Amino acid sequence: MGRVITIASGKGGVGKTTMTANLGVALTKQGKKTVLVDLDMGLRNIDVILGMENLVLDHLGDYFEGSSDWQDVLIRDERYPDLALLAAAQNLDPSLITEESFLGLIRELKAAFDLILIDAPAGIGPMFQLAAAAADEGIVVTQPTVPAVRDADKVLHLMEEAGISRRFILVNELRLSLTRKKITMTPQDISEVLGSDLVGVVPEDIQVILASNEGKSLVGTASAAGKAIERIAGRLCGRNVPLPAFTRRRGGLFHA
Ligand SMILES: Nc1ncnc2c1ncn2[C@@H]1O[C@H](COP(=O)(O)OP(=O)(O)OP(=O)(O)O)[C@@H](O)[C@H]1O
Ligand SMILES: [Mg+2]
Repeated sequence: MGRVITIASGKGGVGKTTMTANLGVALTKQGKKTVLVDLDMGLRNIDVILGMENLVLDHLGDYFEGSSDWQDVLIRDERYPDLALLAAAQNLDPSLITEESFLGLIRELKAAFDLILIDAPAGIGPMFQLAAAAADEGIVVTQPTVPAVRDADKVLHLMEEAGISRRFILVNELRLSLTRKKITMTPQDISEVLGSDLVGVVPEDIQVILASNEGKSLVGTASAAGKAIERIAGRLCGRNVPLPAFTRRRGGLFHA
């Protein structure tokens, strides 16, 4: 039975889609059959980040409108044999997606995949609520800035209300130089403020932008962000992968 992980954030543009896409690839490299569900209706992006946009002939709109089975709208790419994508519709009346129909789809996916990663739209609207209702676990992505962390707090509370007991924080776009100068919070501080464990920390890395421009995954590259995402995938697979020293409160870079 597959696990459903919803990847969400309060503030937009913090890296949810980048993390979902690359975690998906990393998880398949670690032996997990994974499906990515793009719930950012109207603003789909996972396909572009993974260079799969030309493969998107069908999408979730076709499924929810009743014209296709879910198997028919799954998108696969020969570069990623164990990865599948359900692309968001660009134009879909959201009222067509009921909680019942979405949870029905998720039940089918759980029977067919090890991991189901849902890329939620930013904020706390109806699609986020659906993604939360379906999830076994939640990852809230935040940048190390006060507005992003504040919005992450709200999302974590809503996930708790939705009954998600395993909730994690992913700090993205960390700039060590700013953290050292105490301009931005440390990941450890963010974890304490939000009262949830870190699943990982991904540095700001120009390779992220270059890779997504080219529609390539960061997994298996020398990029620092790619390596951090692979470590997160290892943690999600239950491996004990220590967080880098800069995230430790005592004895680490900031509190030595
Ligand atoms: N670690 C990183 N280093 C550098 N740039 C990054 C990093 N993570 C994400 N980005 C860039 O930030 C931008 C926003 O990323 P992304 O689209 O994944 O965010 P999002 O949270 O899904 O946004 P939205 O809320 O609009 O769905 C993209 O241009 C992406 O390439
Ligand atoms: Mg996104």
